[in-house]
Amino acid sequence: MKEIENINILAIESSCDETAAAVVHNGREVYSNIISSQIELHKLYGGVVPEIASRKHIEKINQVIEEALKEAGMSLDHIDAVAVTYGPGLVGALLVGVAEAKAIAYAKNLPLIGVHHIEGHISANYIEHPDLEPPFLCLVVSGGHTHLVRVADYGKYEILGRTRDDAAGEAYDKVARAIGLGYPGGPKIDRLAKEGNPEAISFPKAHIEDSPYDFSFSGLKSAVLNYINGCQMKGESFDPADVAASFQKAVVDVLVENSMRAVGAHDATKFALAGGVASNSALREGMRAACEARGIELYYPSPILCTDNAAMIGAAGYYEYISGTRHGWDLNAVPNLKLGDR
Ligand code: KG4
Ligand code: ZN
Repeated sequence: MKEIENINILAIESSCDETAAAVVHNGREVYSNIISSQIELHKLYGGVVPEIASRKHIEKINQVIEEALKEAGMSLDHIDAVAVTYGPGLVGALLVGVAEAKAIAYAKNLPLIGVHHIEGHISANYIEHPDLEPPFLCLVVSGGHTHLVRVADYGKYEILGRTRDDAAGEAYDKVARAIGLGYPGGPKIDRLAKEGNPEAISFPKAHIEDSPYDFSFSGLKSAVLNYINGCQMKGESFDPADVAASFQKAVVDVLVENSMRAVGAHDATKFALAGGVASNSALREGMRAACEARGIELYYPSPILCTDNAAMIGAAGYYEYISGTRHGWDLNAVPNLKLGDR
């Protein structure tokens, strides 16, 4: 794809519980990346409360954009296009970002580019890896998604597999709650698992017949909850670190096995991780070892670019921009937007 030089994109992300804005130059250089997280607020409820998320976005969005421009040393006059996540996500949360992006684009007569949230997560890899270009395979693992994707070209995706039920991050969050670790559970399980024995408890690893790249985590989650209940009913104590380590091993083993099956079938030479769970130390280590054994180059973003942020929307937005994607003033939030839909 022919690059267009000197394009500054103002990117906005508000699909879940982070209000975020960024200025990204030519898709790969981040001038600013401001994230206002609502985690402390939602912690009180053990998970994201959609209405609270929307209200907080509307309160924060202008400040976050102002800060992103200020940190980039720019005004809206330096911006060439506005990119915004328009799905998937919480509808009320998405609407705040979409309405804001439309208002700015309309007022400044700028092109408007709606971006798929998963395309954003995948594109986070472009920011710190100047050598990474499609085609490559990508495992997107977050609180809402678990997708194994073939990135055929910029903006061109083939979904090889997906979860049939819970997302990987969702399983982490639910198991963390059962152990009493609180929300968000992923990083806490990651930390606790380091003190436990991953072989202590044998939890099931679901493989879906006839769908070698699909995932299922609800059976695993139930097995962990049953194990904890069983111990409690027998009046026995259990070691939370062993539960965390054994659960994590079951998740990581399946993620790595399916990913490597796809690598073999597609003769891939490059593999990327994306999404909040891509920060997980056991997943990174498991993928590093598996990729090294096969001579495959492994990529993953820094933790700050793994969780929801707007820089990744600016990176994806740039490639959409140069391929000619433009959205009209009728752009709306699409809570169940499919990857590849326009
Ligand atoms: O990408 P993200 O910020 O939001 C979604 O688009 O869903 O991902 C958040 C998810 C949460 O479920 C969180 O528990 C999980 O990512 N997560 C982790 C780790 N850091 C965040 N899961 C496992 N290990 C981690 N280190
Ligand atoms: Zn996300």
